[in-house]
Amino acid sequence: MKTAILQSDSQPKQSLNAQDLDSEALSRSLLQWYQISGRDLPWRKTQDPYKIWISEIMLQQTQVKTVLPYFDRWLNLFPTLDALADSPLQSVLKAWEGLGYYARARNIHKAAIVIMETFSGQFPDTLENAMLLPGIGRTTAGGILSSAFNLPLPILDGNVKRVLSRLINMTVPPDRNLASLWEISTSLVPLNQGRDFNQAFMDLGATVCIPKVPNCVVCPWNRLCKSYNLGVQNQRPMTEPKAPIPHKIIGVAVIWSSNQDNTILIDRRKPEGLLGGMWEFPGGKVEPGETIPECIKREIQEELGIEIAVDEPLMTIDHAYSHFKVKLNVYHCRHLSGTPQTIECDEIKWVTLSELNEYPFPTANLKIIQVLQQSGPRFPVSP
Ligand code: ADE
Repeated sequence: MKTAILQSDSQPKQSLNAQDLDSEALSRSLLQWYQISGRDLPWRKTQDPYKIWISEIMLQQTQVKTVLPYFDRWLNLFPTLDALADSPLQSVLKAWEGLGYYARARNIHKAAIVIMETFSGQFPDTLENAMLLPGIGRTTAGGILSSAFNLPLPILDGNVKRVLSRLINMTVPPDRNLASLWEISTSLVPLNQGRDFNQAFMDLGATVCIPKVPNCVVCPWNRLCKSYNLGVQNQRPMTEPKAPIPHKIIGVAVIWSSNQDNTILIDRRKPEGLLGGMWEFPGGKVEPGETIPECIKREIQEELGIEIAVDEPLMTIDHAYSHFKVKLNVYHCRHLSGTPQTIECDEIKWVTLSELNEYPFPTANLKIIQVLQQSGPRFPVSP
């Protein structure tokens, strides 16, 4: 028994924990590095929790360079929290069009209403209350409240998980030991510099401690980084085996009205799911043994309760989502009979080519709109 304890104590430990780290030296060196190498980003020029909140939600699954123009446009459209709460969800989704993960926009809209009704229009300044809002988990709340109020709250987003798992040479995938990572992140935030520290932490992950080949030579933490000093930084973080990415084949209908007025049928998806609340050209997944025109006819009958003729193909679109890929096979179609019903969607509209721009569509559908608008009306326009 004694021997076993001695043996395990005398072996080098695989990974470090919060008590093993010199948190003061780590915080100090990171803050010094940030003074010189931190990025100049618009949401760092404000302490308005509303603006910071919007930036943090946009940045959740999207890169900084993509977010920048959206952030600017957003603040022009919805300059304040009450302006946002008063706007219809459809204009909020339109402002989010192209950013993906539309649940983020729906949650922002819901949260704005909750803040007006429950928190007298003031963004909450405690972790507990901020986490009551839809779309705000512990790391997003930490990011917002440290940035807006300089609170010493930890964050643990994807970048920070990677940096910490390298720093301590974690030998399991980060998501298998989140409790230790939260503990370390908490131990590192200086009491009076939550704002700069967390921003610096994100920048270190985004610009130096990057996923594939980290630039350890310029890292302020290189002397203290366990995986760098063991030469295993490129093998960290450990990853779970990846499941193959499903590939869905979809048939999509551009249904022209039978009265030849050049209007097209579009539908609004139910609020749940990846593209919830967004408008689309109707269609669905091709079943085994089915041709694409057969799939389109069936889907339109099932979803909208109408008969259509499937005419010539318009285009195909390949699009990658985070966990699957789709191929959209788009066909020109004609409405033959029946009144469209909202069987599997929330709303249906016949719209002209130019009216298509007024509705929020997912990115893959925007390509269809572009091609349709370039080709112009399908039927002769009466003088
Ligand atoms: N990712 C998440 N929050 C961020 C921030 N405030 N700055 C840069 N990248 C981020």
